[in-house]
Amino acid sequence: MVRTPDSNVEEKRAAGEAAAEMVRDGMVLGLGTGSTVAWTIKRIGEMVEEGMEVLGVPTSYQAQELAIASGIPLTSLDQDPVLDLAIDGADQIAKDLTTIKGGGAAHAREKVVASSATWFVIVADSSKYVDILTHPVPVEVLPFAARLASRRIEELGASPKIRQAKMKDGPVITDNGNFVIDADFRTIEDPGLLSTQLSEIPGVVEHGIFENVDQLIVVIDGEVRTFSRE
Ligand code: A5P
Repeated sequence: MVRTPDSNVEEKRAAGEAAAEMVRDGMVLGLGTGSTVAWTIKRIGEMVEEGMEVLGVPTSYQAQELAIASGIPLTSLDQDPVLDLAIDGADQIAKDLTTIKGGGAAHAREKVVASSATWFVIVADSSKYVDILTHPVPVEVLPFAARLASRRIEELGASPKIRQAKMKDGPVITDNGNFVIDADFRTIEDPGLLSTQLSEIPGVVEHGIFENVDQLIVVIDGEVRTFSRE
């Protein structure tokens, strides 16, 4: 799994903090996972300290911990099923805003939160913004179904690998208690078709292709740029 190098930290910070400017008093927010949106969450925390009232729904344990540390009051989708705005990071995003997520294995909850939001924004550094998607697609699967799902993913043309943990022997376990298969399709010509095919595999909980991004905030040549879905 390729994560963005730390050298992009200034771009991540600029994109992340720019997204916080979209937040308004009284909003219920989806709080994404990863190192770019972490800057958004920290900035929202400062705004809360300055008196703004918002509620947040975290997309992962990591996001929850950061939101608590930043002083953002939390709620849940059970209490607040419709969110005003969700902000999250990406592993890769194409010019038509189709996105691959799940580098941190949080994409299942991220997709639920994003789909609950009226407006879904991605924040990214320049390395993520591409002409055509090539990043391996993370696929969360029930552990019981991992072998079947790997075989089916292979039949779709990818090399599947069950993601391995770094500081634990064996596979990564998601916040939902599942495995993640990284499916390398090399070039993804038709993300919409692939999305349907992956969803149809029994035991797949959620895959990392997101087709519902409304807006992208990305740093290009040192400048914060915004692109909205047409
Ligand atoms: C979490 O599973 C992912 O979807 C993240 O949102 C994504 O990996 C963000 O990457 P950065 O850490 O580079 O922001």
